[in-house]
Amino acid sequence: MSLISDAPALAACGAPSFAPRTKVRSAQPSWGVDQILAEIQRIAQIPLAEATTLPAQAYTSQEFFDWEVDNLFRNDWLPLAHASQIPAAGDFLNIDMLGEPLIVVRGKENRVRVLSRICPHRAMDIMPEGFGYGGHGLGDAKQGEPGCGHTRLFMCPYHAWTFELDGRLKGSPEMQHSTGFQRDSWGLKEFKCEVWNGLVFVNLDGTAEPLRERLEGLSEVLAPWNIGEMKMAIQMEWDCPFNWKVLMENFMESYHHIGAHAKTLQPMMPARDTWNEEERPGYIRAHLPVKPSKRDEMQAAEGCGEFVHGLPLIASLPADARYEWNLFCIYPLVLVSANPDRVIFYRMQPLGPDRLRLLTTTLVPASTTQHPDWPAMLERETGRLRDFHLEDMEVCTAVQRGFYGAGYQRGRLSYLEMSVWLIQRYLAARACDTWPAMDTPAAPSQRPSLS
Ligand code: FES
Ligand SMILES: [Fe+2]
Repeated sequence: MSLISDAPALAACGAPSFAPRTKVRSAQPSWGVDQILAEIQRIAQIPLAEATTLPAQAYTSQEFFDWEVDNLFRNDWLPLAHASQIPAAGDFLNIDMLGEPLIVVRGKENRVRVLSRICPHRAMDIMPEGFGYGGHGLGDAKQGEPGCGHTRLFMCPYHAWTFELDGRLKGSPEMQHSTGFQRDSWGLKEFKCEVWNGLVFVNLDGTAEPLRERLEGLSEVLAPWNIGEMKMAIQMEWDCPFNWKVLMENFMESYHHIGAHAKTLQPMMPARDTWNEEERPGYIRAHLPVKPSKRDEMQAAEGCGEFVHGLPLIASLPADARYEWNLFCIYPLVLVSANPDRVIFYRMQPLGPDRLRLLTTTLVPASTTQHPDWPAMLERETGRLRDFHLEDMEVCTAVQRGFYGAGYQRGRLSYLEMSVWLIQRYLAARACDTWPAMDTPAAPSQRPSLS
């Protein structure tokens, strides 16, 4: 099999080391899964004004993480890639998700599929790391860029069985004496896959309802960004020593602009002006408006031809999207920031209660990459993105350490942390099997009065 390095133009940046990984013994009492779930269900019924944080064990227990894998992840839609990463028939990406070795491949008829990399002969990984296929996760030979390439066929390196791009077995040398062996029955396993707005999702256990239906309303909201046609500009990989929910909570609440982003985001999008839309079963939406005085400055600068957001404005956006960031949490593992000049999407790959592989991808319209100043813009924006993301990585790392200490207290939430509370309500609904319906009246929007 040939591996041609024709992956789309991409700035791949390994994450700097932001904190040592120190394994600590928890001073918190050990809780079983039932106890953790009962507590989540209890606090999910509490109004936002009285809300508290989750028990520490929800972020540290291996048993609870295993419950999440079976009950939140394997039976739902998990993000793998953006379709622009595999633009041509034969382009593929190797990704490990929840320990499952996968290939995302574009077939000859232009269809995107997700196949298993486990050989149906003797269980070999057909494109293992270290055989020249690049990395599939942390510890990649080329950090930030998953194993990717272009091929006509896949070939298992163990006994040279070959497979078509759709997974069918094509060649199986010296199998003619194996009674009843039929090639048709021995292809690579195919997983259920959906491409939504250019994002490729997989459902590992094959039981998930179509994603498209759940996200119908969101498709309309995101239509002006035209995400399916965007190009990947910057991809960074982060080895995160914290629970996936720590990142989700951090990404979705903007209360922390006051502290962690005091010098970066707070002057432009003050925490107090941020707000959440009402509760929905499929996703959370938060608004981060630019403060009025800053907006006036930006409009004046735009009149002089400046790109006030860093990159050219996306021309198709409605007026109300030009001076705010829109944050979305698409359960369970996607986070999206739809900005006036770009879309940033996060793919979370949980590895354990205190470890997460995170891929942060910046998408831009093709026209942006054709701008004469694009190389300089790309370098500048890559640096900026890394700097403000590091601010989040540092706090998330420190928060995870807090869960193990005897000093950990169940904190109270601000009204600006509505997303944190909505995530608790999502977990509770999944725990009692009522999701995607809400078992209690849905929470209203927290939009501040604009007097
Ligand atoms: S294990 Fe793949 S060909 Fe034998
Ligand atoms: Fe942040």
